[in-house]
Amino acid sequence: MRISLLFFFFFAVILCSFLPRVKCQTPNLSSVIAEVIYDRLSNLSTVFKKEIKDNLGFCINNVEADWNGAFDFSSNLDFLSNCIDKTADLTQRICTAAEIKFYFGSFFGGGSKSTMELNQNCNLTSWKSGCEPGWACSVASSEKVDLENSKNIPARTLDCQACCEGFFCPRGITCMIPCPLGAYCPLAKLNKVTGLCDPYSYQVPPGQPSHTCGGADMWSDIRSSREVFCSAGSYCPTTTEETSCSSGHYCRTGSTSEKKCFKLASCNPNTSNQNIHAYGILLLVSSLIFISSFAFSSFLMA
Ligand SMILES: *[C@@H]1O[C@H](CO)[C@@H](O)[C@H](O)[C@H]1NC(C)=O
Ligand SMILES: *[C@@H]1O[C@H](CO)[C@@H](O)[C@H](O)[C@H]1NC(C)=O
Ligand SMILES: *[C@@H]1O[C@H](CO)[C@@H](O)[C@H](O)[C@H]1NC(C)=O
Repeated sequence: MRISLLFFFFFAVILCSFLPRVKCQTPNLSSVIAEVIYDRLSNLSTVFKKEIKDNLGFCINNVEADWNGAFDFSSNLDFLSNCIDKTADLTQRICTAAEIKFYFGSFFGGGSKSTMELNQNCNLTSWKSGCEPGWACSVASSEKVDLENSKNIPARTLDCQACCEGFFCPRGITCMIPCPLGAYCPLAKLNKVTGLCDPYSYQVPPGQPSHTCGGADMWSDIRSSREVFCSAGSYCPTTTEETSCSSGHYCRTGSTSEKKCFKLASCNPNTSNQNIHAYGILLLVSSLIFISSFAFSSFLMA
C-alpha cells in the first residue's frame, strides 16, 4: 500500500516535470503519507467503537448510528498532514488498540472519573512530560508499532511534545487519539490568570516553566467534557476548525454542518436552535380559522 502510493507520488512528479506547460498539481508528500496513515487508522476505529459501546453505551443511545460517521475523516485529511509536518513520526505517536482499551477501561470502567491506573509509561517512578494532559511521546524509531495490538502497551517515552490539533492526549498515557467528528480539538492557549489551558480544563504542571499548553486532553461523553465539542451556535466541518452559524441556519452542540431554519422561524447568526414561536402562532391561527369556518358552515347547513 505504502509502496504503491509512493510510486504514484514519484510518477506524478516525473510526469509533471515532463509536461511543463500543462497545469499540473504535484501531490504533496505529507498528504500522500496522510492517506496511508488514515488507511490504518480506519481499522482502529472499530476497536474504539467497541470500547465506547462497552464503557459508555449507557449514555449514548444508538452507538452504531452515532459512531459510524464519527471517524470518517476521508473528506479532509489536513489534520493528519499538518501533524506529519509538525512531528515527522506521527505513526510512532498514535495510540494502539491496547492503549485505547487501557484509557477507556481504567478511566471509565472503574466508576471514578478523576484517576487513571498507572502503567509502564506513566507511573510513580517515572512521569515523562508526555504523561501530562495534552502531551504525547514517541516509540523508538527502531520499533515497529502494530496499531491493532490490543494486548501490550508499547514503551513510549521518547521526544515528548504537545499533542497535535485534531487529536486528544489524555493524562496518564503518552499517545494521541484522533478526535471524533463533531468535536473541536484546537491547540490550547495558556490563560495567565487561571493557569488553565483554554479551552480545556487542565492546568500546566506547576514549577515547570518549559512545559507549555498542549492539545486536547480528553473526550468522553458530552456531559463530562463539553469543552471538546463544537459549541452550540457554531459548526465544525473538521476537528480543527470552528465556524459561526450563519443567518438563516441553526447549529446544535457538536454539529459538523449548519442546518437550514424553517422559512418562518427566525434564525439570527450563531443560533443554536431555531425559533419556532412564529411557526407555532401561525399554526394556531390557521387551525382556529379552520375550526371556525367548519363550525360556521355546519351552522349554515343546520
Ligand atoms: C483491517 O481489518 C480487517 C478486518 O478486521 C483486516 O482484514 C484488514 O487486513 C485490516 N487492514 C489493515 C490495513 O490492517
Ligand atoms: C501540504 O498540504 C497541506 C494541506 O493541503 C498543507 O497544509 C501543507 O502546508 C502542505 N505542505 C507543503 C510542504 O507544501
Ligand atoms: C515505570 O516507568 C518506567 C519508564 O517508562 C518503566 O521502565 C518501568 O518499568 C515502570 N514501572 C512499572 C512498575 O510499571
